[in-house]
Formats: sequence, C-alpha cells, structure tokens
Amino acid sequence: MTAVDPLRRLAPVVRLAPAKLNLTLAVIGRRDDGYHSLHSVFVPLTLVDRLSLAPAAGGQDTLHVSGLDAGPPAENLVFLAIAAARVAVGGWSGGPGPAPALAARLDKRIPVAAGLAGGSSDAAAALDGALEAWGAELDDEARRAVAASLGSDVPFFLVGGPALIEGRGETVTALHGLHGAPGVLLVTPVIGVSTPDVFAAFDAFRQHGDGAVRKSSAHLAEELRKGLTAADLVARAGVLASANDLLPATAHVVPTLVPFKRGLSRLLGRPVGLSGSGPTLWALYPSEDQAADAADVVRAAVRAGDLAAPGASEPFVTATAIVGHLTEEQRS
Ligand code: C5P
Repeated sequence: MTAVDPLRRLAPVVRLAPAKLNLTLAVIGRRDDGYHSLHSVFVPLTLVDRLSLAPAAGGQDTLHVSGLDAGPPAENLVFLAIAAARVAVGGWSGGPGPAPALAARLDKRIPVAAGLAGGSSDAAAALDGALEAWGAELDDEARRAVAASLGSDVPFFLVGGPALIEGRGETVTALHGLHGAPGVLLVTPVIGVSTPDVFAAFDAFRQHGDGAVRKSSAHLAEELRKGLTAADLVARAGVLASANDLLPATAHVVPTLVPFKRGLSRLLGRPVGLSGSGPTLWALYPSEDQAADAADVVRAAVRAGDLAAPGASEPFVTATAIVGHLTEEQRS
C-alpha cells in the first residue's frame, strides 16, 4: 500500500456502478475448474446503481440499501469487496491496524439476478471506492486479482467502457471504437434466473457453441476496436440478437421467456436479444430517446394485456444507452 497523504482524513466517496449488456456471448468450452471460457463483448450502460462510502461510526462495515430489492444485505458483494480490499492493502497509512470500517449506502436501480451484472458492478465500485476512501492504492494487477476473486464479471467494470471478455471473465481487452451512444431498451421479467442453473443446463445439453456465435463475437470485437457508429451497431442487431450461446439453456430454465421474447420482438418490430444468462431482453435503437418511446409502447402493451409477461408482477422496463467511454466525471 502506498500512502497518498498520511494526514488525509477519510473522505466520503460516491461511485456510479453501471449495468452491463452482453452484445455477444460465445461459450468456448468448460474448464477443469467448472467455469466456462467465454468470448463475449460487454458494454456498460447509463443505467447505474449509486454507491456512497463514508467512515463508519462503529468498528464494523455497514450497508444500507434503498431502491430495488437487492436481497439480504449481509450477502451483498459490497461487503465482500470492502473486506477483500482491506486485506489486499494490508494495513493503513492513517494509523495502526487495518483500514477503517466503512458505512456503505447503495441506491439500487439495476434489477438483480437479471443478466445485467449489477451486483458485480457494485463490487467493483466498492473495491475502487474503498481504496479512494482510505487514500490507498493498489497496482492494476493486484486490483484485477481482487476483482476476479469477487466474481467472473467484476474485472470488466474496472475498464470503464466496452470490452472483449475472455477466459472466465478475467481477461479484459478494452475496445475504444464505439462512436455515439446507442439507445437500449431493457425489459426484465420478474423471474430471477440463476446463472449456475443456466450453465448447468448448457452442460447437460452439451450444446457447446457451433462456432457461429464465436465468429460473430470476434467480428464485432474487431469492429468495436477499429470504429463503429451507433447506426452501424443498430444495423447489426439481427446478428447480435442470436449471438448468445446461452439462449437455449436459459429457455430451458425459464421456458416462459421464449414466447415473451417472440411477442416483444413482434410488438417492437425489431430483433430482441438476451443479456448474459438472462432474463433481461434488449433491443437496440439509434438513441436513448427512441428507446424511451419503445419503453412506453411496451408498458402500454403489458397494461392493456396485449403482451403477456411472465412473472408475479409487471416487468422492469427502462430506456438506457451504451457508454462508449466513461469520463472521470461520470465515474465519480
Ligand atoms: O464467478 P461468478 O460467481 O459470478 O459465477 C457464477 C456462476 O456462473 C459460477 O458458479 C458458474 O456456475 C457460472 N459461470 C461459469 N463460467 C463463467 C462465469 C460463470 O460457468 N465464465
């Protein structure tokens, strides 16, 4: 750990934790450790959770969650991330003993267990935010190792823009070529989908990718490296909507998603894809405003009974946009 300023007081820190969308997801194979090696283009969205960290009065980290239901606070990855960061820095320059306890407040806007990696993003934000609050530094390699230990999707969020994800999620290559901010309509039925269940179904079917998704994924990654406009990306929506090797496995775990996805695509008149292991469905638009108009159409159709949504309550419907590159201002 390097002291930035030993006399510095603990500063309250705010981090915005973006959701992610998988534009492609190829499953290359199953590894010896049970995880799957992937080839996937991840993009961050303007849909964010807001995390604040401040010195805690007692000697223990605390977490208060507002907004959407995030499950039991004690199991929240924010706690694990702060604890892992404390171990990684190995001491505190501001005094004896470990880095001090933090009081975390999380305003949850990203639905959980939805294929949007909200929990993983919160973990990355907590790791980064805790280091900042303590005035501590970790080199990039150590930061990436802590992130990977927290979950497969966490290292992506250290990059702050579109990236190619390989391995289990630990190999992250930034893709700097997205110009503009394509709009995204997200529709998340209220049916939590367990990622391990989807991968288990994938293995049971032995549906290892036939290579077509891998090809689409490699092609998109190359385009996003060289340069692609929002309009170009939207023009590829048809290919991208089927570029997810987990689609059949998710359909097996939640069969009601299949007619819903078809109905949504018919209603919108455009391709609809699945993010990660789902159940979030997406459609791409040239702008967030156009995605917002589509969100109104979906909400109206659900309320009128013209689009039957699975789940105990109305689906989460929102318009957001892809973040081509996060500025410093957006990150803090
Ligand atoms: O790493 P994380 O805890 O987020 O992964 C959740 C589950 O998703 C794993 O237990 C595993 O079943 C599955 N998974 C996988 N291959 C990956 C990522 C996740 O099999 N690359």
